[in-house]
Amino acid sequence: MVEFNTRVVHISKDDQIDNGSKTTPIYQTSAFQSKSLEELESFYTGDKRYLYSRIDNPNTNELGRAVAEIEGAKAGVATSSGMSAILIAFLAVLKPGDHLVACWDLYGGTYQLITEELSDFGIQSTLVDFSNLNEVEKATQPNTKLLFSESITNPLLRVENIAGLAALAKAHQLVTIIDNTFASPYLRQPFLQGADLVVHSATKYIGGHSDVTAGVVVGRADLVEKAKTKGVHLGTTLSPFEAWLASRGLKTLSVRMERQVSNAASLAAYLKTRQEIKHVYYPELINGKGQSAIVTIELNDQFVDLSLFFKSLSWVKIIASLAGVETTVSHSTTTSHRALPKELCDKLGINQNVIRISVGIEDEKDIIQAFEEAILKASKKA
Ligand SMILES: Cc1ncc(COP(=O)(O)O)c(C=O)c1O
Repeated sequence: MVEFNTRVVHISKDDQIDNGSKTTPIYQTSAFQSKSLEELESFYTGDKRYLYSRIDNPNTNELGRAVAEIEGAKAGVATSSGMSAILIAFLAVLKPGDHLVACWDLYGGTYQLITEELSDFGIQSTLVDFSNLNEVEKATQPNTKLLFSESITNPLLRVENIAGLAALAKAHQLVTIIDNTFASPYLRQPFLQGADLVVHSATKYIGGHSDVTAGVVVGRADLVEKAKTKGVHLGTTLSPFEAWLASRGLKTLSVRMERQVSNAASLAAYLKTRQEIKHVYYPELINGKGQSAIVTIELNDQFVDLSLFFKSLSWVKIIASLAGVETTVSHSTTTSHRALPKELCDKLGINQNVIRISVGIEDEKDIIQAFEEAILKASKKA
């Protein structure tokens, strides 16, 4: 098999529609014609692939297949958002009366999905510290069916021990689902480390250009099939154009990530030298590939004014998202983690001085200068 960077660029074609075009055309259609009742029937026997775009469309199929291929997974399905990817992955495994154990340092939207929505379906949950596998094991119950975590957590960048978690899950006949949004397939491939399903907000590094909201579920073929069926019933399908945009963005994942990770490592090293920054969250090398394209900092409010810091960031925009080619910042307690109870945020260390920096592909020198200027302008000593 060819190497990762080559796989990212050369996604396999769909034989049923391949007409030799270099890129896949956009199949902006809600349905596909059948020339006879026999041909119509062949959709249900599996010979004809396309009938109705909520069920199957060449562009949405291409995105699911592409992420599965580059992550070494068996199958994939694209969805309308990262949240719908997580939802159908959960529903592929969980039934009313079941229980899941999730890491407590979760993205706020996932926290709400688990505590406000799954609970309405009669699905129970326990959130614990996943940096301690004993805690995870202790939280399992006779009705526990799955373990859920993030490969690199949002926003404090804890690197999950996926292999350890998957081994624990297998010992208890549990399913492991990993949200791989922050690492992207470039830094981590959870399926190859034993996860059963991997979910992505393709809105982030997979799309890479902040112009699409999308999600993907990849992993074991049987579970992806179940997730896909849930998605067809619930209507979590991605539109063809959005899928096309995400697939186009995906082709440059390696080169974007290489630059973003390198810029992020330099920015993290610089920020560690500043007394105005109380803490720099930046992980160690992952799989020999790099660290993270996100740097999270905690400002020292003894030295810097938080509000002034945000206003002083010149071309760096305040954006409640991440992973585009531009460097952006977000304020965790008022956006991504607003839904988490304050006591939990306090316990995790997500306080109002925590800022998540999504590092872009600009020149390293300009990025560092923008943050240096903001620190100096917002300095309480100035
Ligand atoms: C780690 C993580 N998972 C899932 C999501 C949800 O993705 P989407 O906004 O595409 O639904 C987000 C959104 O920020 C996220 O950060």
